[in-house]
Amino acid sequence: MWTGLPEFDLSQPWKNLWSIDPDVTYLNCGSFGPSPIPVQEAHIALLREIESYPARFFFQTREDLYEKTTNRLAQYLGTKGDNLLLAGNATIAMNIVAQSFPLDPGDEVLLNNHEYGAVQLIWRETCQRQGAVYGMAELPHPINSPEAIVESIFARVTDRTRLIVVSHITSPTAIQLPVKAICERARKHDIAVCVDGPHAILMHPVDLDDIGCQYYTASCHKWFMAPFGTGFLHTRGALKSNLKPLVTSWARSLSGRPKHWKDRFLWQGTSNDAALLSMLPTLDFWNKIGEETFRRHAFPLVQQAHERIAELFPREPICTLPPEWNGSMVSIPIGVTDDSNRNIGQPDTLQTTLREEFGIEIPITYWNGLKLIRVSVHLCTEQRDIDYLVDTLKKLKDRGTI
Ligand SMILES: Cc1ncc(COP(=O)(O)O)c(C=O)c1O
Repeated sequence: MWTGLPEFDLSQPWKNLWSIDPDVTYLNCGSFGPSPIPVQEAHIALLREIESYPARFFFQTREDLYEKTTNRLAQYLGTKGDNLLLAGNATIAMNIVAQSFPLDPGDEVLLNNHEYGAVQLIWRETCQRQGAVYGMAELPHPINSPEAIVESIFARVTDRTRLIVVSHITSPTAIQLPVKAICERARKHDIAVCVDGPHAILMHPVDLDDIGCQYYTASCHKWFMAPFGTGFLHTRGALKSNLKPLVTSWARSLSGRPKHWKDRFLWQGTSNDAALLSMLPTLDFWNKIGEETFRRHAFPLVQQAHERIAELFPREPICTLPPEWNGSMVSIPIGVTDDSNRNIGQPDTLQTTLREEFGIEIPITYWNGLKLIRVSVHLCTEQRDIDYLVDTLKKLKDRGTI
């Protein structure tokens, strides 16, 4: 039987727990977080077990393991297993919300100008289909208080606003948004809130029931570093029975369990479940390491990177909140751009130079007319990685490349 997380040595340098290419300085777990080796091993071991007797896994073992994984993840995130649906990633979870949320013609869904591009597209198309209004709030620039963020969103609310979609931590700008305060205010207006949360998992303690949103969507591969293909959708109360799956299948348990509201989601056709269920050993991994160990390592290092890069490129910051408010990722303006339609598959030339000439993997994003460098720091990041990044940026600045 699968035993989950293998034993591993905690006394070695943190970086040795990852299998990152030694020729690469990897500063982009904000996009794709690599799993630690013990989690990879648990994941592969589960895959082997599935392959050794697939019918036993799909008919007998799978649903118990799903429930166990869901309950452990729910406990970690401050909610009950019954409120949590495992999903392949945040994109799938957000599409389920978009497909399920009731919108009449003229109703409004309100996002803001720091939201993730694909999430914007999901809601723009959903609003178009339903004859609803796709609203866009502008957050203050620079962001200097959580209260100002809340005010800027509610300044845009109308009596037809039905749903606010808001990141817990924004993707292009790496800013934590005050989601609990947004939910409290939304409740007074009878507006639902959907929080897009993939960057918050592990970066900050997340208590889903305490946040008080109607929906919370996340991937778990970024900071939490579960295998790729892991995520969840959190919802509660009567909203659960209104959720519509993206895929229709048997809509019932395959092991003969009693009827349950999750039945339409638990089986979406035969798939490889090893990644999703490896959230269990990932929870064990972080339990063993301690989340605070990660934060104590990553937060000061990202703050140091921020200060040193901002000194090289003196520009107005996009956020003046204290660094610990934001966490282990920071976006720093290094220039301006009039190209806002850049294809995501065509990186900025600086990003390509950093990758190809210097082996540094880091995103350069275009946002609101600014070119931003987004630094992600995790336990597998070392001081010398930040030194190398800063020295390289200085070299490229002196060379006139930036
Ligand atoms: C804020 C935010 N939401 C959603 C997503 C989508 O995540 P995934 O591709 O894992 O579905 C991302 C990915 O970078 C993101 O940063």
